[in-house]
Amino acid sequence: MKKIISVVGARPNFMKVAPIDRAFARYKDKIEHIIVHTGQHYDAKMSDAFFQDLEMPNPKHFLGVGSGSHSEQTAKVMVAFEKVCIDEKPDLVIVVGDVNSTLAAAITAKKLLIPVAHIEAGLRSGDREMPEEINRIATDAIADYLFVTEKSGHQNLINEGKSNSSIFFVGNTMIDSLLAAMEKAEKSNICNELALSKGEYALITLHRPSNVDDKDKLAEFIEIFEYLSKSRKVVFPIHPRTMKNIEATGLIDRIKSNANLHLLEPMGYIDFLKVMSEADFVMTDSGGIQEETTVLGVPCLTLRTTTERPITIEIGTNKLIQPTKLNILRAIDEALLPNIANHSIPELWDGKASERIVKIVHKLLGLENE
Ligand code: UD1
Repeated sequence: MKKIISVVGARPNFMKVAPIDRAFARYKDKIEHIIVHTGQHYDAKMSDAFFQDLEMPNPKHFLGVGSGSHSEQTAKVMVAFEKVCIDEKPDLVIVVGDVNSTLAAAITAKKLLIPVAHIEAGLRSGDREMPEEINRIATDAIADYLFVTEKSGHQNLINEGKSNSSIFFVGNTMIDSLLAAMEKAEKSNICNELALSKGEYALITLHRPSNVDDKDKLAEFIEIFEYLSKSRKVVFPIHPRTMKNIEATGLIDRIKSNANLHLLEPMGYIDFLKVMSEADFVMTDSGGIQEETTVLGVPCLTLRTTTERPITIEIGTNKLIQPTKLNILRAIDEALLPNIANHSIPELWDGKASERIVKIVHKLLGLENE
């Protein structure tokens, strides 16, 4: 019997691991799959709600690290995860995405000589001021097995000296979750509850430090959303970081009095999929939403100068907008929305990435002939 630990920490990790856990169930006589939650995200709406929506089993270990500076958070995960690894003695540790928990768990496992697999490896924005870019580069540098979602990831890893035999192009486990949840999402009542009509509202998410930590910049974003709300409803589920910063701008009362601008708490996965799938367009600085809108065929304006997910622009429905007031207003007014007529679904984003990964892991662990 082999033991595998998958590590989750922050909101975008949960949908990447849920389908992996389901796929491992097929091999439960040979592989014990354990989920460890670092507790990087801890609010019920940022974490628990996702376990329910994704029908994911509770984590066996919850490390409760919480918030802190990058080093503090990374270090706390390392200290706590080291104890788990020593106790559990896993044969493989799986990390996903690019959050601080990803890097922390990868370093910890490698220093205990435990092999590491990275899901969503190889993505590069080229912007080393993004903490996630540092997490991606450092995780890939030490991981043994690299599962990539798009071909650019493969090329980036080769350019960084990784061997071809350690890289596996398997598709996108986040899209596995999306496709598995769409039937449920279609039945969600959230659009009725919020009085949203299909194709008549914009959906916004914003949480990157580069967009929300500067008070003046954030106030400018609010003005843009207010402008947008003159012509349509705007739905804005707010990340706790962004909420704290909006409160500090003193603009909260003004926003709340705007009937067309819905400021909401972070939404659950199923409701969010529903709201995203029926939006006229999405404005975001998220990584995963660029991919999800690509599959849903919803125009996405990404408020960033770079993306680590170029396939979403090449064949998807995504467009980068340098996040200045002038650029965003132009994009809205001149309807510079990405043309979605010719979009297509990226290769292998077919809902079966997790099955491919688990099959490869099964082989890598030498279980094929057992
Ligand atoms: C993290 C990830 C980012 C990902 C995002 C998704 C890193 C470096 N960043 O950013 O890649 O896109 O998650 O949401 O790992 N907070 C709460 N409750 C929570 C979680 C956070 O109130 O449950 C607040 C805290 O004040 C915290 C702040 O949000 O300081 C930021 O949380 P943190 O986990 O440090 O980074 P995110 O901005 O969420």
